[in-house]
Amino acid sequence: MAPVATIVSDTTLPSGPLPERRAAPGAHAPVPALFSLAGTVTFITGGGRGLGQALAKGVVQAGGSVACIDLLPQPTNDNGEWDQIQKLVALNGGTASYHVCDITNEEKMAQTFEEVERLAAPAVLRGVIACAGVQQMIPAIDYPMDGFRRIMEINVAGAFVTAKASANFWAKRDIKGSLVMIASMSGSIANRSLTCTAYNTSKAAVHQMCRSVAQEWGPAHGIRVNTLSPGYIRTAMTDQLLAEKPEVEETWMRGALLNRLGAPEDFVGPAVFLLSDASAFMTGADLRVDGGHCASA
Ligand SMILES: NC(=O)c1ccc[n+]([C@@H]2O[C@H](COP(=O)([O-])OP(=O)(O)OC[C@H]3O[C@@H](n4cnc5c(N)ncnc54)[C@H](O)[C@@H]3O)[C@@H](O)[C@H]2O)c1
Repeated sequence: MAPVATIVSDTTLPSGPLPERRAAPGAHAPVPALFSLAGTVTFITGGGRGLGQALAKGVVQAGGSVACIDLLPQPTNDNGEWDQIQKLVALNGGTASYHVCDITNEEKMAQTFEEVERLAAPAVLRGVIACAGVQQMIPAIDYPMDGFRRIMEINVAGAFVTAKASANFWAKRDIKGSLVMIASMSGSIANRSLTCTAYNTSKAAVHQMCRSVAQEWGPAHGIRVNTLSPGYIRTAMTDQLLAEKPEVEETWMRGALLNRLGAPEDFVGPAVFLLSDASAFMTGADLRVDGGHCASA
């Protein structure tokens, strides 16, 4: 005898009160409010140029204040990027500040958090984007160990200094902050025709660092930690790789399912999502935004 299919519809479900459902405070807010960063300041390392600076502009467009942290003595303003951020933030009545700090210097990092808090008050320092990072292309068989260690020092130890300073700052003030760590699709795959073993290794470490600290700081402090993993973006970093090896652009384009490489602005929406209450139930996760690159072989 053929099995009888059971059709389950709403009316067959048990009636009575639903099990406890607790959404994040504010989760029922209208959607624009969910994505708003009004009343907050976001601390962005690597905010002097490239992706970090584009994300700073996005934060301001979402109504927030911003603090850009970088090694560069001044933020890039070749095409009026920094002036635009200043103009936009003035419209919200917020602040956009710039701070020179090496992310591997733990003491200076803690001081910079306090400096930003003072400057941006009454906005609450509730978001951090750990975006500073370096890249280097050398065949693994010849990789000089000092070069390998330098990549680990900046991309891994520097990211950890940023994460640890964020958690200390938030835990002391009972702020349920959101930390977004910029990793890379290269933390999950090895890019064809690129010899970047140290970089790829460092970004895989950032993925695991995110999961590890998320499981410590979520239950204890309500701090959320996620990685955002871009694919190829045209910035000074990739321009340098392409200048050294122009033929790789063709290889990259073969994996580009949307027929283009990324632009820094492609990451504004994902970053604002991760910083804001729109992602209030998300922690320890990786958001890969790569134009489909990792989806096909
Ligand atoms: N460009 C890409 O295709 C791509 C892809 C995936 C991930 N990423 C990641 O995005 C982030 C930003 O990359 P980008 O392309 O904008 O590069 P970029 O070189 O244009 O910007 C990186 C910034 O980090 C700063 N920095 C470097 N070391 C620092 C230190 N010790 N202390 C403080 N600041 C320091 C640099 O001065 C620079 O302003 C990096 O973490 C990178 O690995 C980039």
